[in-house]
Formats: sequence, C-alpha cells, structure tokens
Amino acid sequence: MAVDLFLRTVSCAYGVILCCLLFFEGSSPLISFFCFSNFGLSCVSYKLFVVPLGGHGVDGAAYNYNASIECLAEPQRVQYKGGKLRNPKFELGLDGWTSYAGASLEVRRTFSGNNFMVAYNRSQNNETFSQQVYMDKGKYYTFSAWVRVSEGSETTVSAVITTPGNSMRVIASGNAYPGCWTMLKGGFQPEFSLLTDLHFLCYNKTAEFWVDNVSLKEFNQTEWLVHQQRAIRRVRKRKILLQITDKLARPVRGVKVNIKFRKPLFHVGCGVTDTFLQYKKYQEWFLQKGFTASVFTNQMKWYWTESRQGIENYTVPDAMFQFFKDHGIAIRGHTVLWDKPKMNQDWLHRMTPKELLATAVRRLASVMARYLNDIFEWDVVNENLHFHFFEDKIGPQASGMRYICRSTQVYKKV
Ligand SMILES: *[C@@H]1O[C@H](CO)[C@@H](O)[C@H](O)[C@H]1NC(C)=O
Ligand SMILES: *[C@@H]1O[C@H](CO)[C@@H](O)[C@H](O)[C@H]1NC(C)=O
Ligand SMILES: *[C@@H]1O[C@H](CO)[C@@H](O)[C@H](O)[C@H]1NC(C)=O
Ligand SMILES: *[C@@H]1O[C@H](CO)[C@@H](O)[C@H](O)[C@H]1NC(C)=O
Ligand SMILES: *[C@@H]1O[C@H](CO)[C@@H](O)[C@H](O)[C@H]1NC(C)=O
Ligand SMILES: *[C@@H]1O[C@H](CO)[C@@H](O)[C@H](O)[C@H]1NC(C)=O
Ligand SMILES: *[C@@H]1O[C@H](CO)[C@@H](O)[C@H](O)[C@H]1NC(C)=O
Repeated sequence: MAVDLFLRTVSCAYGVILCCLLFFEGSSPLISFFCFSNFGLSCVSYKLFVVPLGGHGVDGAAYNYNASIECLAEPQRVQYKGGKLRNPKFELGLDGWTSYAGASLEVRRTFSGNNFMVAYNRSQNNETFSQQVYMDKGKYYTFSAWVRVSEGSETTVSAVITTPGNSMRVIASGNAYPGCWTMLKGGFQPEFSLLTDLHFLCYNKTAEFWVDNVSLKEFNQTEWLVHQQRAIRRVRKRKILLQITDKLARPVRGVKVNIKFRKPLFHVGCGVTDTFLQYKKYQEWFLQKGFTASVFTNQMKWYWTESRQGIENYTVPDAMFQFFKDHGIAIRGHTVLWDKPKMNQDWLHRMTPKELLATAVRRLASVMARYLNDIFEWDVVNENLHFHFFEDKIGPQASGMRYICRSTQVYKKV
C-alpha cells in the first residue's frame, strides 16, 4: 500500500491558494477540489510516500523479515521452527501449553491434516492459553503467530507476557477475523530476566480463539549485531569506483587517496516529546549524539493542534520545531491523519463523511503549509494497517487514496 502525496506551491509573492485534488484509486473522487489560502509560503514541492512492508529471503539463523498484514486462507509456515517454544505447531496436541484464566482448550485438525489450537468456552479477554518461557535480560526476542476467531467481526488480539511487577507487556498485536488467518508479529527486549507465562488476549470475550504456528525466537547480542551488519551491507552500502586521472584524462597509478567519513547520506535521529523543551541536559545529549533528524511523538498530531474544533494551537510544536531548526536538525512530520478511532477528536466522530473529508483536507493544508519548507517527509495516515477510522467514515479507499495537492495561483493582488 503506497500513499503518495504531491504538494506544490507556486509563486509566493502575494500569497498562495493551495488546492488539493483528491484521487481515489480505482474510483471517482468523492470531492475533487479544495482550496485554501495561505500567506507567506515559499515555493517548494514535496513528494511523500509510505513504503510497503517487504519480504526478504533469509537463511537459517538470519532474521526472518517475513510479515503479512493480509487475512489469508493459507498462511505461512512457522518462523524459526518455533524458536524456543515447545510444540509450536500443535502437532503434539496440547503438549507444552496450558489453559490460561480458565479457557477450555482443544487441538483441531483441518482436512489437509494441519493441527491448530482452539480456546473456547470463554468469558474474558484473557481466557486463552499459555506456555511458560524464560526470557533473558540483554537478549532479543522476536515473536510471531497466526490467529483467527470463530465468528463475529474483526477483533483485536495480542500476545502478552507478565512482568515480575505483575504488569502486562504486549509483545505483538493485530486483528483476528473469522474465516481467514492473520499474522501477529512483534518483539521484546526484557529489562530483566524473567520466567513468564506467554499468553494471548482476544478482545472478543466469547468467540472461539484459534492459533497456529507460534514462534518465539531468541537472539543474543552477537547474533543481533550480525543481523544489523547484514542489513547495513544490503541497504546502506554501495560499491564505488574511483578513478584518478591526470590532466589528459589518463589513469594515474599508485596514488594515495584519503577518504574521510563526514556524515551519513541518510537521517539518523530519535523521537522527542514536549518535555524536551524543559530539559537542557536532554537537548545537549541529543545534539552531542550527532543526530541529523527528529520527529515529535505527538505534538504535531491533530488532537494536539486542534483539540477543539476550529481552534488551532501550534504553540508547542512551533517551539520544538524552532529548536531543531536553529540547530540544523531535520524534522520528519508526524502525522497528518491517524486511523485510530479513539485518537480522533469527538467532534470528528460526529461528522458526516463529506464534512470529515473536507475537514481532513483542511487539516492537511493547515499542518503541512505551516512547516512546508522545513519538513523533509510526512506520515500522511498513521496506523492504517490495523485501524480504519477514515475508511469507516469516508469509504474503503480513504487511506489508499492519493492526495494530489496542486497549487495554482488563482488570484493575484494588484
Ligand atoms: C517468506 O514468505 C514467502 C512467501 O510466503 C515464502 O516463500 C518464504 O519461504 C518465507 N521465508 C521465510 C524465511 O520464512
Ligand atoms: C502452519 O504451518 C504449516 C506448515 O508447516 C501450514 O501448512 C499451515 O497452513 C500453517 N498454519 C497456519 C494457520 O499458519
Ligand atoms: C483475567 O481477566 C480477569 C478480568 O479482567 C481478571 O479478573 C483475572 O485476574 C485475569 N486472570 C489472569 C490469570 O490474569
Ligand atoms: C466451560 O467452562 C465452565 C466453567 O468455566 C466449565 O464448568 C465447563 O465444564 C466448561 N465447558 C466445557 C465444554 O469445557
Ligand atoms: C463475539 O463472539 C460472539 C460469539 O461468541 C459473536 O456472536 C459476536 O458477534 C462477536 N462479536 C464481535 C464484535 O465480533
Ligand atoms: C551467541 O550465539 C552464537 C550462536 O548463534 C554463539 O556462537 C555465541 O557464542 C553466542 N554469544 C554469546 C555472547 O552468547
Ligand atoms: C496554546 O497552547 C499553549 C501550550 O499548551 C498554551 O499555553 C496556550 O494558552 C494556548 N493558547 C490558547 C490561545 O489556547
């Protein structure tokens, strides 16, 4: 799923009218043209895209990048042969697994002879099943499983562990559906060694919860470093050929060349919250790290800048923005829209589809125009793989729609 957005403003002498043309892939636009006036913008064009999850071929001990966000009739094999889990494919029935919080369990078999686990007779989210695992401080854990519910509509499902303080840590989360299988994938790095019941939560308290091909793979620090180095080699490094020639373009032999690494071509940084503004030590640490970019965890979000309809307040993001700008740190924009229902303001929930669409485009113009020159990349729709606020309200293509914002200088003051 790629969302690309093209925003261009031209001629800025007197102000600009920013017009957005919305395209829905494969269907006609709901509303095709919006205009907003903004003053004091300069001329720049942006291109944004969200890169889809990609699978990579990997060998034995290598990290398995495979992930799927689709609901599949025939899902993939178990990853890492289940890692440190016992009986991860339920070929040995219930062996290694126990009922959690009182669910009834049984292992069923498909026509093709594949076993999977069923938790039924449920009345609480946590009535599922578990396996006791030991997790080591300093090691890295990657988790995956295939899940499904017997009936109803889509349901949130999580894999969790309980920490010694008795708090729950979600290590993977996703949606389960009736009729097809979805993948949960996640990971965890414990701050302490612990013996814990790895179990599931299924937010339909009564539906049967089905699971298959569970994996918990442990990596030590050396192995993890190897994954990182492999990824660096594959993604970041390129071969280059330098040819030194004389004035007549003849290759010169035996020349000594010194190459100095000055800065990376890509951004490296970390996210910050508004508390960043209050802590000088934090600021100093950030600047000393040699980071080239940052992103604000929440402060550019819609609920932050316009909690009450029609009253925008950019005080905090502006201040954060100014700090980084003054220090030459690039900012990644996060986020124009967010598909998580409860993170959208109540007043947005009350809107008709048409109003919501128009308001979403106004929001787009507001936040993007404000930081137009200085943000190198935007998240346009956040968390749209497992949430669908805008899809539910506007239509199934809401996230896939391509915003193509064209600016035309429609008027000119004389
Ligand atoms: C990743 O998924 C693809 C497609 O399902 C499969 O062919 C491949 O074997 C998988 N790779 C690993 C390492 O599991
Ligand atoms: C689990 O993996 C087996 C192959 O080992 C495959 O046939 C089966 O469809 C998988 N089941 C699920 C639900 O992923
Ligand atoms: C399961 O959830 C119920 C309801 O929230 C709670 O009372 C119970 O203690 C939980 N059981 C376990 C084993 O976590
Ligand atoms: C369902 O659960 C109740 C108590 O939680 C138990 O008494 C009953 O035997 C269970 N039924 C089945 C079919 O497992
Ligand atoms: C939850 O499961 C029950 C079956 O136990 C089903 O009737 C109901 O529709 C499901 N609810 C949702 C919201 O999916
Ligand atoms: C990490 O695991 C590798 C095997 O993959 C092993 O050879 C190595 O000794 C381990 N390193 C540490 C520090 O445990
Ligand atoms: C805008 O937000 C700032 C920071 O939260 C606050 O101090 C200020 O009072 C707000 N301005 C208005 C007009 O509400």
